Amino acid sequence: MRDFTHKSVLLAEVLAAMQPRPGGRYADGTLGGGGHAEAILEASSPTGRLYGCDRDGEAVEAASLRLARFAGRFELRQASFADLGEWVPAGSCDGVLLDLGLSSPQLDRAERGFSFQQDGPLDMRMDTRQGQTAADLVNHADADELARLFWELGGERQARRLARAIVERRSERPFETTRSLAALIERVAPRRGARTHPATKAFQALRIAVNDELGALRSGLDAALKVLKNGGRITVITFHSVEDRIVKEFGRTRARGYTFAGSEDVPELRQPCPPELRVLTHKAVKPGAAELADNPRSRSAQLRVMEKI
Ligand SMILES: C[S@@+](CC[C@H](N)C(=O)[O-])C[C@H]1O[C@@H](n2cnc3c(N)ncnc32)[C@H](O)[C@@H]1O
Repeated sequence: MRDFTHKSVLLAEVLAAMQPRPGGRYADGTLGGGGHAEAILEASSPTGRLYGCDRDGEAVEAASLRLARFAGRFELRQASFADLGEWVPAGSCDGVLLDLGLSSPQLDRAERGFSFQQDGPLDMRMDTRQGQTAADLVNHADADELARLFWELGGERQARRLARAIVERRSERPFETTRSLAALIERVAPRRGARTHPATKAFQALRIAVNDELGALRSGLDAALKVLKNGGRITVITFHSVEDRIVKEFGRTRARGYTFAGSEDVPELRQPCPPELRVLTHKAVKPGAAELADNPRSRSAQLRVMEKI
């Protein structure tokens, strides 16, 4: 078993939100290295139970080793949290955690193809059983589609220019490796003096698209609400603004005591309905100075908590 060390982000804040206690039931939809799951099982000893999943088979394997001492108190699967409702009983959980994004081992392992700093196959699949890789997308999507991805999912200002350059270069030779794509981006859209690498945004956009991360998040929030008991809490940690907006909007919509047809909220056309949840964090919780110093990867983390009514 290879090393699968990942520093869990906002650990104390997650425990404060989830309030693990003996006899409680919890779901961790993003096991990663199993750090949050371990803390939840520890804090809910001796009888708390945990359902855990991750799309990444290596993460599930690592988490099951880390949690071995709690044998009999957890059930783990390789699955997307979008499908939590298919195997976790409805109305059974006191807390659901979604800690989005990548784990350190995914990012650090060149062969997974997430990193532009190391050379590996242009893959980026969290679940390697899934079909489409980043190379498939980069070599087959048309320029408009690539530009849209880079702009909408990465906020890349040079989206069009990058997309055109990719389409031109791939007509000579398809992209196969992370370095070949990063090198093209460095050439076409250099960022002299910038703190982040020029390929950061494009790589983020490709990763989100390959794993349909936004679709999974929307379905995952619905699934979390379904498996929670009344009074149970959803805790979500996001790492970029596109994800955070979805979580915020989900909370706002489900906390409202009405629905409306169409895209505009016209007060006269509102249909009353009971609110499904209460938003407990009006401002997102962020890591403090000590955590930032200890774990620079936590810098963009934002935590939000909602309680099912
Ligand atoms: C930041 S890590 C989680 C770290 C974990 N909380 C810990 O303490 O070690 C994010 C994990 O979420 C997983 N993931 C991302 N999207 C997922 C999804 N839709 N369903 C299941 N797992 C997902 C990734 O594979 C990755 O292992």
